[in-house]
Amino acid sequence: MHVGILTGGGDCPGLNAVIRAVTLALVHECGARVTGIRRGFLGLITQEVLALDVPTVAGILAQGGTILGTHNKCDPFNYFGAAGADVSSQALAYARSLGLDALVAVGGDGTMAIAHRLSKLGLPVVGVPKTIDNDLCHTDRSFGFDSAVAVVAEALDRLETTARSHGRVMIAETMGRYAGWIALEGGLAGAADVILLPELPYRLDAVVQRCRARESREGYTLICVAEGARAEGGQLTVAQTLADSPDPLRLGGVGALLAHQLQPQLRTEVRATLLGHVQRGGSPTPFDRVLATRFGWHAAELVRAGQFGRMVALQGNSVTSVEMASVAGRNRPVPLDHPLLAAVRGLGVSLGS
Ligand code: F6P
Repeated sequence: MHVGILTGGGDCPGLNAVIRAVTLALVHECGARVTGIRRGFLGLITQEVLALDVPTVAGILAQGGTILGTHNKCDPFNYFGAAGADVSSQALAYARSLGLDALVAVGGDGTMAIAHRLSKLGLPVVGVPKTIDNDLCHTDRSFGFDSAVAVVAEALDRLETTARSHGRVMIAETMGRYAGWIALEGGLAGAADVILLPELPYRLDAVVQRCRARESREGYTLICVAEGARAEGGQLTVAQTLADSPDPLRLGGVGALLAHQLQPQLRTEVRATLLGHVQRGGSPTPFDRVLATRFGWHAAELVRAGQFGRMVALQGNSVTSVEMASVAGRNRPVPLDHPLLAAVRGLGVSLGS
């Protein structure tokens, strides 16, 4: 058996742990040959590969990023390198010429959408859910999320030092695209006083009120705001528009905007910190190493069982799989009846609404 593996979309802690687990499981369990496709789907077009075996994946479990490289603009059905042309037949022909019996695609909703289209054209594909945003459907967790939450929690711990010492409002802006999972869990773990999510447009006056109340009581406020958050009736804060990307909007700047809006209404100074790609970098947490390893092993099992067109998923504490079609190109926002939101409110943390 010859199995390919690629990592698509943004990098994420735990990608190497998946590559290692898929390779070790397939080599040990059935003596398969494993080939890494470099730079996501781009490698299927530019024909760049890396042979994977037990020595190649040694020592990569705890490494951040991906040894295969990735690309978040390459869609073979709308290829940026050929003015948006459909070069999927080229990608499929290369996969066939390699003699691949299966392809494991590790990525987010965009990667799953492409993988699903390729599987409909006859490529046997298994998906593995990756994103720090935790916004993939039908999986309770994607690997990378726990590592991002750990960074946010640590950042808030550190920002609290300045907030308390100077008596300031300190704002941390998290990633997460259109979902508030990172801000919600990171904000809770870092004891934020105000958590602002894309799912719950905030009222500026409610945030001002909370900061003023704390100004006279505790003397400082810690705010955790998701990059996709916006005021009621307001717009998303877009940092960049990448015309040649399948997902063109890059969010960012809502923290600075909020600081600008709050400052005139408060006595205390306000500062904003954009956590940015720091949340995606570095070594995965032990939780993510285990989850990524479980996902990789399960993906290898699906390949061996010939169960294609499916994505590995965590449901409760069990690793299972779901139809890739039900995940492709969709997002999973924080449901408004999520128990964590009730807990946040119950603790007296403001959600700005
Ligand atoms: O989807 C992961 C993510 O890190 C988002 O949270 C963020 O909005 C986006 O990717 C940033 O993308 P880029 O690396 O292209 O700036």
